[in-house]
Amino acid sequence: MKVSIIVSITADGFIAQSVGQSSLKWTSKEDTKFFVEYTKKVGVLIMGSATFETINRPLPDRKIIVLTRSKKYDQFDSDQVVAEGREIKEVLQELEASGQKEVAITGGTSVYTQFMKEKLVDELYLTIEPIVFGSGLKLFNESLYQKLELVEIIDLSEQTKVLHYKIIQ
Ligand SMILES: NC(=O)c1ccc[n+]([C@@H]2O[C@H](COP(=O)([O-])OP(=O)(O)OC[C@H]3O[C@@H](n4cnc5c(N)ncnc54)[C@H](OP(=O)(O)O)[C@@H]3O)[C@@H](O)[C@H]2O)c1
Repeated sequence: MKVSIIVSITADGFIAQSVGQSSLKWTSKEDTKFFVEYTKKVGVLIMGSATFETINRPLPDRKIIVLTRSKKYDQFDSDQVVAEGREIKEVLQELEASGQKEVAITGGTSVYTQFMKEKLVDELYLTIEPIVFGSGLKLFNESLYQKLELVEIIDLSEQTKVLHYKIIQ
């Protein structure tokens, strides 16, 4: 099963100015379209509870697995949003066993960092938006050393590009 990180970053490497800031506040409409199309194709998203709270609703035609040790999302249909407190490796194993071909890791910083540190990621889709924050939440917040191979640059517009990388195992 392919595990892909999908993320939008500023030109100086931030994914939000503060916890709770929705990415829709500062990312382009072209990037939102890319995110929607890509995640619909994949079908299953994994995100942390802080990121889910910036959305706080199911996303059409996708299942969201929300990593949390404290919250329940019983108000949502379990085909659309589920709370998950098990180890991330176990979550991936179960998805793979169910026949899932790909999963999109959709943040935030703590979740991106855990998947990278545990070497569970195969590909990275990094949208670079023409904006800087100077401070805020970085894409990763722990020490890492991981070489990447640039596969392609997807032109979303003159201003916004997606760097698609493979993780070199
Ligand atoms: N620019 C982008 O593309 C992008 C993408 C995604 C997110 N973001 C931004 O990132 C910010 C949130 O990032 P964040 O790092 O603060 O939070 P986060 O990763 O979204 O969520 C962290 C929370 O998820 C739960 N969690 C994390 N790992 C877990 C695990 N292995 N098992 C069980 N629960 C786990 C814990 O919550 P509990 O207390 O519920 O246990 C933890 O406090 C938001 O502002 C969001 O907008 C930006």
